[in-house]
Amino acid sequence: MSKKFFIGANWKLNLTKEDIAPFFSQLGPCASNNSTLIIFPQMPLLSEVGRFHETHHIEMGSQNSSATAQGAFTGESSPKTLKSIGASWTLVGHSERRSIFGDTDESCKKKFELALDGVLNPILCVGEEKKIREQGFEAVKKFLEGQLNPLAEILNTHPFFQGKVNAPLVVAYEPVWAIGTGLTPTLPEIEETLSWIRSFISSKMTTPETVELFLMYGGSVNRENSKDFLSLPSCHGLLIGGASLKALDLREIFHTSTLLSGH
Ligand code: 13P
Repeated sequence: MSKKFFIGANWKLNLTKEDIAPFFSQLGPCASNNSTLIIFPQMPLLSEVGRFHETHHIEMGSQNSSATAQGAFTGESSPKTLKSIGASWTLVGHSERRSIFGDTDESCKKKFELALDGVLNPILCVGEEKKIREQGFEAVKKFLEGQLNPLAEILNTHPFFQGKVNAPLVVAYEPVWAIGTGLTPTLPEIEETLSWIRSFISSKMTTPETVELFLMYGGSVNRENSKDFLSLPSCHGLLIGGASLKALDLREIFHTSTLLSGH
């Protein structure tokens, strides 16, 4: 049986224009029927990364996008403009956006909706802090409910999903305490959380068949542990920070996903 995977490389505030060509020459082509590699570079590098879109079979996304379509919002980038320079994805609500730049569930909802309006595929990032995980799974669920509720509202109302069957929707579960720390939840904890996210979203939707939901895991993913995460039944992808800056590691992780995808 084949399984579809999305592998996201979140480069964060790293790499410059000069690094791009050598990176892709090491990465090599990433063609696959069932696995998609999405690179999330700094916004000014989107066009440069786009030069490798066809040769390397990659897609591009932004690490953030605006909550308003246009106007006097210095420093922002709109989904429509990002789309015009080659992005087809955007992250929404990455924990660093939430904790450092003040993104809230409300602003994430606006960004998510506007991304859909601008025809970008938004990936909603959710995840709890360590102190919540330490209180047990009930506390984790309660916290994640708060982050997922705005999404459920959008799924039931946004024209993007109306009348669709199996419109792809990606949600990334990234526990804050696992990001860049070398720590990860146990495999059963990840599976339990992903599987709960799936049933929670589906329970909130009036017509669950409109979306095909893909759940990513993110947080200290590397070439050694990626296979274990991808082998979890509920895991359909990885959102990778540090390890995605090393082309050879990213290539190996992507290759692992193609093997597990059955193609
Ligand atoms: P690390 O893989 O460096 O832990 O970062 C994860 C992340 O934040 C991806 O969005």
